[in-house]
Amino acid sequence: MELTTIFCIFLSFLSILLLNLLIKTFFFFFPSNVKTQLPLPPGTMGWPYIGETFQMYSQDPNVFFATKIKRYGSMFKSHILGYPCVMISNPDAAKFVLTKAQLFKPTFPDSKERMLGKQAIFFHQGAYHANLRKLVLRTFTPEAIKTLVPDIESIAQNCLRSWQGKLITTFLEMKSYTINVALLTIFGKDETLNAEDLKRWYYTLERGYNSMPINLPGTLFHKAMKARKELADTVAQIISTRRKTKQEHNDLLGSFMSEKAGLTDEQIADNIIGVIFAARDTTATVLTWIVKYLGENPSVLEAATEEHESILRCKEESGEEMGLNWSDTKNMPLTSRIIQETLRIASILSFTFREAIEDVEFQGYLIPKGWKVLPLFRNIHHSPDNFKEPEKFDPSRFEVAPKPNTFMPFGNGTHACPGNEIAKLEMLVLLHHLITKYRWSTVGAKNGIQYGPFALPENGLPMTFYPKK
Ligand code: HEM
Repeated sequence: MELTTIFCIFLSFLSILLLNLLIKTFFFFFPSNVKTQLPLPPGTMGWPYIGETFQMYSQDPNVFFATKIKRYGSMFKSHILGYPCVMISNPDAAKFVLTKAQLFKPTFPDSKERMLGKQAIFFHQGAYHANLRKLVLRTFTPEAIKTLVPDIESIAQNCLRSWQGKLITTFLEMKSYTINVALLTIFGKDETLNAEDLKRWYYTLERGYNSMPINLPGTLFHKAMKARKELADTVAQIISTRRKTKQEHNDLLGSFMSEKAGLTDEQIADNIIGVIFAARDTTATVLTWIVKYLGENPSVLEAATEEHESILRCKEESGEEMGLNWSDTKNMPLTSRIIQETLRIASILSFTFREAIEDVEFQGYLIPKGWKVLPLFRNIHHSPDNFKEPEKFDPSRFEVAPKPNTFMPFGNGTHACPGNEIAKLEMLVLLHHLITKYRWSTVGAKNGIQYGPFALPENGLPMTFYPKK
């Protein structure tokens, strides 16, 4: 090679290097994206890939969060379950994340999406999500659920009767109550033919929900995936029967099947399975905590008993029918506060997940695109800045409305719970009968909590259960 050629190659290398240096210098002084110059929130990221997953799950996750908040403040970074993330315990910041749907989207592991059904409401944003939300909300407005009180009452009475004189696991029995109410709201009271099949398949699906996502014959995950197919087939069968009979139905399936809804059968099945999932364990867990707190706070139980007996006395005196109606359920202020206080103190959903859709600047920090963001409901509900003596069970604190955004047991914003009214109604109805007709005492360890994934009293709260008289 000639000397001039070598010199030319050397020159072109040098010019490329210089150009590169010039570009970098230019963007340093005139950054193209100001956000990327911002610092990340304080905190530590732990080990490569595994991050701080073990620290978080080797203890009560709330201890992990509380320690971090003490050290780094209400917004800190970490790395869990293979993802970098920002955790947030400031009420206004949590509201920002939950309400800015254009910046943060819901995010779930792929295995959970496959199990519940990829077209279920939780996983979506935009027009498809808005349509589903409208259909679900329509079925669960106070106006729509008013008429369900007698049917819910009869489910509650049957459940309570079946517990009499037995040692029961409160959570399991509450789950049996809440799935029956869920099926009532979804399929109406006449769907008795397929109800047992639906429950059987759902129980198998549920057993595999938290299993390792290995889809091989014999694994829990495989059985759950098979059960989800059976569930979808059963829903398809009910849809087909309804189409033949051309009858109108005021339940959730009726709402999903309406022409205006424009949903395919597969979309309907995914969302029916999704709503059973969202409705059942949540409400059963809260009811289990209520039973525990009432047992531990005799003065609150006594005042609640008086509230419910007075409803019965009024009915007797006026010669009104003894069964509960909608206006009775609006006349239970103390019981409603007991539910609120339990939702706060038990905070069964400790946190939720969102993902940043783009680089987001927040309070002087950068939340990079693709990072997970976790609003920490439980820490917000347990902060002394938001609730005085936060560890004390005190329903009277809800005589005054909590400060804005400090109480969000049903979430906030675009994905806030559309089932909150029916959840409260079914809790009030069951509590009315539980408190007026029964007494109970818990058995075994008293203060343990297990996470699976909701925070639950240890072993599901075993208790013995007797009629009052
Ligand atoms: C006490 C019981 C319940 C609690 C504490 C609860 C809590 C929540 C929370 C916190 C969210 C929002 C999650 C997030 O933003 O990531 C949510 C969403 C949801 N809940 Fe509930 N829930 C309860 C009962 C119910 C019931 C009875 C139903 C049945 C209708 C239901 C249906 C749903 C649905 C469909 C969503 C998803 C909404 C969407 O993505 O747009 N929930 N729930």
